[in-house]
Amino acid sequence: MRVTVIGTGYVGAVTGACLSYLGHHVTCVDSDASKIARLRRGEAPIYEPFLEELMALAASRGGLDFATELAGPAAESDVIFIAVGTPSLPGGEANLTYLEAAARSIGAAMDGSRYRVVVNKSTVPVGCGNLVETLVREGIDEARPSERRTISFGVASNPEFLREGTAVADSLYPDRIVVGAGEEHTLEIMRQLYLPLMAQRFEPPAGLPRPAGLTSVPMVSTSLTSAEMIKYAANAFLAMKIGFANEMANICERVGAESTEVMAGIGLDSRIGSKFLNPGVGWGGSCFGKDIQALLHTALEYGYDSKLLRASLEVNSAQRQMVIQKLQERLYILKGRTIGLLGLAFKPDTDDLRDAPSLHIAERLLQMGARVRVHDPVAMPACREQRPDLKIRYCDSPEELAADADALVVVTEWPRFRALDLAALAHSMACPILVDGRNLFSPEIAHAAGFDYTGVGRAARPRATNKAPAPDLPDAGATISTLRPV
Ligand SMILES: NC(=O)c1ccc[n+]([C@@H]2O[C@H](COP(=O)([O-])OP(=O)(O)OC[C@H]3O[C@@H](n4cnc5c(N)ncnc54)[C@H](O)[C@@H]3O)[C@@H](O)[C@H]2O)c1
Repeated sequence: MRVTVIGTGYVGAVTGACLSYLGHHVTCVDSDASKIARLRRGEAPIYEPFLEELMALAASRGGLDFATELAGPAAESDVIFIAVGTPSLPGGEANLTYLEAAARSIGAAMDGSRYRVVVNKSTVPVGCGNLVETLVREGIDEARPSERRTISFGVASNPEFLREGTAVADSLYPDRIVVGAGEEHTLEIMRQLYLPLMAQRFEPPAGLPRPAGLTSVPMVSTSLTSAEMIKYAANAFLAMKIGFANEMANICERVGAESTEVMAGIGLDSRIGSKFLNPGVGWGGSCFGKDIQALLHTALEYGYDSKLLRASLEVNSAQRQMVIQKLQERLYILKGRTIGLLGLAFKPDTDDLRDAPSLHIAERLLQMGARVRVHDPVAMPACREQRPDLKIRYCDSPEELAADADALVVVTEWPRFRALDLAALAHSMACPILVDGRNLFSPEIAHAAGFDYTGVGRAARPRATNKAPAPDLPDAGATISTLRPV
């Protein structure tokens, strides 16, 4: 099929490369000419593992190109994806300016030569499928008023569930594909488009093997409104799950329980599941905060105040403050102290800083008069560019970050941080304090390395050991130590 994808950010660039890899002819369009120039050189506009490799594979088959103008590609396409940003407005509602501009331009580019499907992949409030249809029609009316009746199209909602850092694998091997549409013909075109993915009928690219046992991917077909709601409900649930783990961790810390053990213990319950239960400094990123705000806003428009959603936002914001409290408990005065933040990106394997806890923590520390240093394997150039106002020192290595610092804080759980020589870091610091905001290290190993260590929801004192010999217990299968994730 001929496909156009509007927007080449995290969602658009990955969607375009994957659909092209599956055999479609894809043109990715972006109004940002510098992004298109980079893409034409084979460079991904964002840091996303495997994206450049996949783009190269797709381009070598001749099925992927890039443009700044929508009119030509849209006119030749069977399917046109909208993957533009929908950031929050100050009141919490989604800013639909980019979506509206894209929908109107699609209408202006259409002619009567074929039936087209306009697919909304951006995360948008319920009702936007209808809005897109209206805007496309308005675009047609403005550009070709006489052809209004001969131009036919359908609108689909196809929310995206990829995770930054694993976006390519998530797109090639998704748990499900959700498509909302009003007519069977539109749905059928979407089925044809995704058939290679649904049947997993493609050669996995090198380095991204198909997960064991994956033979097919279900398509969930729904109404437009349900598809839009599925995306918000999924993100609200995931954010709430992390928030729940953080709440439990805060209680664990007070009663002397080990949150990593507690989460491993509840995660084995198949009704709960073990993912998204890692306590930490709170979630961040471009989606959770803005999507919950937008859902709250939509609910309020319908006269419903969702207390659970509001609590999710409040719990998360308090969790970021927890780092400051832990530093104060240990150092008392933060003014003039040097604090090193290990990690800037909101999660590993991305350079995305949108709503990153690191920025919130750095801002608070600077307000309190602390000196802030940072080190991140990939996100430092993005931070320098996006936040020139932040008076922080960028360090090229964790060693430079630690030298003569008063405390280190793990903010992002980059796997490479696990291999750090903790003893050398502790030795080089003015005060060997480690606030492990991601429970990346074992408390025992950090203590042995010379650190005054504190994690999230971890017992402050070593547990009293029972001196009496342990009774012989029947073999009960998993022991507590096998439940420990660290
Ligand atoms: N980032 C994620 O992990 C993720 C996951 C799932 C869903 N989403 C949703 O997908 C949507 C896109 O997110 P993103 O992170 O890719 O955004 P992004 O900001 O990284 O990219 C959006 C791109 O759209 C371009 N654009 C805006 N208006 C345009 C227009 N009229 N014509 C052409 N290009 C235009 C921008 O220049 C930009 O490059 C959002 O609604 C988001 O909520 C994001």
